[in-house]
Amino acid sequence: MTLSLTTTSPEATILHPATQGASEWWRSAVIYQVYPRSFADGNGDGIGDLKGITQRLDHLVELGVDALWLSPFYKSPQADAGYDVSDYRQIDSIFGDLDDFEVMATKAHALGLKVIIDLVPNHTSDDHAWFKEAIAAGPGSAARDRYMFRDGKGENGELPPNNWQSIFGGPAWTRVDQRWNADEDGVADTQWYLHMFDTRQPDLNWQNEEVREDFKSILRFWLDRGVDGFRIDVAHGMVKAEGLPDWDGTTGMVDGTKAEGNTQVQTDGTPDEDGSNGGGNSGPMFDQDGVHEIYRSWHEVLEQYPGDRCLVAEAWVEPLSRLALYVRNDEMQQAFNFSFLTTKWDAAALRTVINASVRENDVVGAPTTWVLSNHDVVRHATRLGLPAVVEGREMNPNGVRATDPQPNVELGLRRARAATLQMLGLPGSSYLYNGEEFGTPDHTEMPDEFRQDPAFERKGRTEAGRDGCRVPLAWEADKPAYGFSETGKTWLPQPDTYRSVAADVQKADPNSTFAMYRTALGLRRAHNLGLGSLAWLNEFSASAQVLAYQNNDIVVLTNFANEPLHLPQGVEVLVSSEPLVDGAVPTDACVWIKTA
Ligand code: BGC
Repeated sequence: MTLSLTTTSPEATILHPATQGASEWWRSAVIYQVYPRSFADGNGDGIGDLKGITQRLDHLVELGVDALWLSPFYKSPQADAGYDVSDYRQIDSIFGDLDDFEVMATKAHALGLKVIIDLVPNHTSDDHAWFKEAIAAGPGSAARDRYMFRDGKGENGELPPNNWQSIFGGPAWTRVDQRWNADEDGVADTQWYLHMFDTRQPDLNWQNEEVREDFKSILRFWLDRGVDGFRIDVAHGMVKAEGLPDWDGTTGMVDGTKAEGNTQVQTDGTPDEDGSNGGGNSGPMFDQDGVHEIYRSWHEVLEQYPGDRCLVAEAWVEPLSRLALYVRNDEMQQAFNFSFLTTKWDAAALRTVINASVRENDVVGAPTTWVLSNHDVVRHATRLGLPAVVEGREMNPNGVRATDPQPNVELGLRRARAATLQMLGLPGSSYLYNGEEFGTPDHTEMPDEFRQDPAFERKGRTEAGRDGCRVPLAWEADKPAYGFSETGKTWLPQPDTYRSVAADVQKADPNSTFAMYRTALGLRRAHNLGLGSLAWLNEFSASAQVLAYQNNDIVVLTNFANEPLHLPQGVEVLVSSEPLVDGAVPTDACVWIKTA
């Protein structure tokens, strides 16, 4: 097959994302997710911290990103790796303190990086002062009204208030006296409280005025400390349907499970025309219209601060037209595009989801976002190397362990490099997850005894959970813990294969994954791709074998076919995910070509 490089004709579909002509930084930003526990350890205890992040900020500048987003660092018993917050205005001592945050944020800003932090408003830790007060105060108290306490069903309230299941497995309700003894007067407390995640993560009641006011004050607390934005955890979950009705569907967060009536179907990564991949959450606990009022009020808080601050929705919502409601111009600024993340490695499927993403965001004037990896999913270097189908089921698991089918590591990395290059050429904003710039895979053979994800136990050890993608990063191949921590300690074990993805090895090799990311990010900036547009190349506009689009003066072409794709003589290739073979783009490779 030879490419004639017919670029777009006037009839070609040209999508103009809302990013065009706009100037806010977040519309086109490449945002790097730092998972604080695993990025860099500054004090040698084996858990990453703010000092470690500060020491490694130069790396982000060298890579060429615009901003960093930090997963939670707040005071927390760490029952869900910090997504269980006991004090939103303090930093957990394992990560440092408020001074360390200030040093980190000041340095980041001096280096030209924006700082986004994670806010967890759906639930607190059970160690939060409010929850402890609620347990002590008893039924009917104002303290209980801040959470979702209910009387049980059955003669003696022995049955949970409804049939909801926790996203981490098991019931979503815990009865107070299952965890705490009878109070002083000897009367057992038989109320139940709702937790959509772990027992230690009680859901807040967002109908409670005090809850609403306190979170606005928490936003201000951090805005006053200079943060440029917030990633909002479980942004689609805060408001529950009136009366908390029973629901026979199932909930899944990170595995792309399809919640459809009674049946749990795994997504096969083939999106419908509306971009739905079957990975969205539905049911009375998700995506209720009432959440939008909250975001409108938060939008107003951000507006009171100078500069362009942003709110980013972590909302596993489909179809994309529904997700777009979160980024209407008086609500949040961005929403993670999980439909894109869960789409399979297939030209037609990707074209469908990209079209739907741009189209639906354009309706509300928001930038599209793109993401391939994060701390909740199997890294794309591993995911794309997994067998497509195992025992008749499409593979899109939420964790891989030694007893599961293992990925083809080489294929995974090859496709991951192509997928990344393909993504970074798109207009809008892209998210990177720490380590992916080195081609880091999941630890797919981590012994179970090290696992810490609460979902592992709650699901009866039937699924690996998310620890595999959270392993501490490798910085220097020949140092203890590959340079993650001076003492050699790591909170999760690193696999031996980490030597090849250590930063120093990667940076010394001009053909490394790091070199490719760095080149692509430089070109993306130089050619203003983040604020560009999208036009499919006529020649391949229906192809299942080749995905090719033009953004500004660059053509991004990915070859999914089993045979190489010959480029016309003399075209200027600016970056490629694999070396060209006799002037041809090999299978599972992506190139950026400069148009005349
Ligand atoms: C976060 C997870 C976390 C969950 C509960 C999410 O969506 O990304 O890591 O376990 O919310 O807070």
